[in-house]
Amino acid sequence: MAVQRTLCIIKPDAVAKGASGTIVERILRENFRVLGLRQVRLSRAQAEGFYAVHRGRAFFEELVTFMSRGPIVAVALEREDAVRHWREVIGATDPAKAAEGTIRKAFGSNVGENAVHGSDSEENGQIECAFFFAGMDLL
Ligand code: CMP
Repeated sequence: MAVQRTLCIIKPDAVAKGASGTIVERILRENFRVLGLRQVRLSRAQAEGFYAVHRGRAFFEELVTFMSRGPIVAVALEREDAVRHWREVIGATDPAKAAEGTIRKAFGSNVGENAVHGSDSEENGQIECAFFFAGMDLL
C-alpha cells in the first residue's frame, strides 16, 4: 500500500470544545506523520472555496456558515493508506452512525457539526493539503 497524504480539519465545534489536543494525540497514536499544522479562521469566501464541490447542495449555506464561525486546525497527514485509515478513525459523517471509538462518535454533535474532516480520495488529499499549505514546504 502506497504512502499517501490526507487533510484533517479539526472543525470549529471541536476546537471550541477544547478537543484539538486529544485529536492531535490520536493522530500520532495512529502512526500518521504530521507534515504541517496550523490554526486559522476561514473567511466565508475561503470556506466556500474549500467546499466548492458541495455548492448547490441543500446544506451548503449551513456548512459554510459553520466552517467560518470560529478557528479551525488544519493538519496535513501522511502515512501508508492515509485516506482510508483516517476516514476509519474519524467515523461516519453522521456522528449518530459513527462506530464506537471514532472521533466523530466522541466529539461530533450532528451531520453538520461533526468535529473533523478527512479527504475522500488520494487526489483530494493532495489538493486539500495544498489549499491550506500552498507555498509552504511540508516536512
Ligand atoms: P466533511 O467530511 O467535512 O465534508 C463535507 C461536509 O458536509 C461533511 O463533512 C458534513 O459536515 C457536511 N454535510 C454533509 N451532509 C450534510 C447534511 N445533510 N447537512 C449538513 N451538513 C452536511
